[in-house]
Amino acid sequence: MSANHRPREGRPAIFVTGAASGIGRACAELFARRGWFVGVYDVDTDGAQAIAATLGKDNAVAGAIDVSDADAWQRALAEFWVHSGERLDVLFNNAGILAPGSFEAVPLARHEAMLAVNVKGIINGCHCAFHYLQRSPGSRVINMASATAIYGQPELVTYSATKFAVRGFTEGLDLEWSKFGIRVSDIWPSFVKTRMAASFAQIASARALGIRLDPEDVAAAVWACAVAKPRFHKTHWTVGLQASLLAFATRIAPSALSRQVVRYLAR
Ligand SMILES: NC(=O)c1ccc[n+]([C@@H]2O[C@H](COP(=O)([O-])OP(=O)(O)OC[C@H]3O[C@@H](n4cnc5c(N)ncnc54)[C@H](O)[C@@H]3O)[C@@H](O)[C@H]2O)c1
Repeated sequence: MSANHRPREGRPAIFVTGAASGIGRACAELFARRGWFVGVYDVDTDGAQAIAATLGKDNAVAGAIDVSDADAWQRALAEFWVHSGERLDVLFNNAGILAPGSFEAVPLARHEAMLAVNVKGIINGCHCAFHYLQRSPGSRVINMASATAIYGQPELVTYSATKFAVRGFTEGLDLEWSKFGIRVSDIWPSFVKTRMAASFAQIASARALGIRLDPEDVAAAVWACAVAKPRFHKTHWTVGLQASLLAFATRIAPSALSRQVVRYLAR
C-alpha cells in the first residue's frame, strides 16, 4: 500500500484526494517540487502509487481512498500522519466526478454518485481530519468547488448543485473553525483540460467558453491559497478570467440578467 519510510522532519505536508489524475496530480507534483511531503490518495490505487513513485519515496506516500467511505478516510489519514512526521498542514479535498447531460437522461444512480463523492466525500474528509488539523498549527482545508458554484448550470445540474454545497459548506466551516485557527477555502476553476474534459463536448457552455485552463493553472491557485498569509485570507479562489468575470458579474448584476447570460452560453 505505501512505501515503508519516514520523511525528513519538519517540512509541511499536504494530503491530496483524487491525486492520480488531472488537478490532483498537478498539485501533488507542484507541492513535492516545492519541498512539501505529499499524500497521494485516490480510488485508483495503482495510479496513486505510480505518481508517488515519480515524486520519490522520501517525498510522498500513496494509498487507496474512496472519499465517500468514512472508514477509508480514517485508515488513510492514520497512515499519512505517521509518514508525514505527524503533520497535516493542508487537506486538499479534490476528488470529484461529473456526469453531464439532460437532467432526466442521466441515470439516478449517477446523480447519487456525484452527491456521494463531491459532497459526502468532503464532509467525511473534514470530519475525519479535524483531529489531525487541530494538531497542526496554522493548518488549512482547501475544497475543490468549481465555477459552476457561481450560477446553476444546465446539463450539469446536479454537479453544479454539489459545488454549491461545497461553497456553502466551506463558508460555514471557515467561520466555525476560525476559533481553532484552521482556515477553510475553496477553489472555483472554469473548464480545465483533464480526463474529466472528455465529457465536455456534450456541454453547450463548455463549447461556448472553450477549455482554457491546464491542471497546472489550478495547482498554482491551490499553492497560492495554501501559502497565503493569514491576514490575506480569502474564502473563495476563482481560477481563470471566465470564472472571475462570472463571479463579478453575478455580484453586481440582477439575478435575471445572470440567468440570461448563463442561458445564452448554454444555448
Ligand atoms: N476539469 C474541470 O474542468 C474542472 C473544473 C472545475 C472543477 N473541477 C474539479 O476538480 C476536481 C478534480 O477533477 P479533474 O478535472 O482533475 O478530473 P480527473 O477525472 O482528471 O481526476 C479526478 C480524480 O478523482 C479520483 N476519484 C474519483 N472518484 C473518487 C473517489 N470516490 N475517491 C477518491 N478519488 C476519486 C479519480 O480516480 C481521478 O484520479 C474535481 O472535484 C472536479 O469536480 C474540475
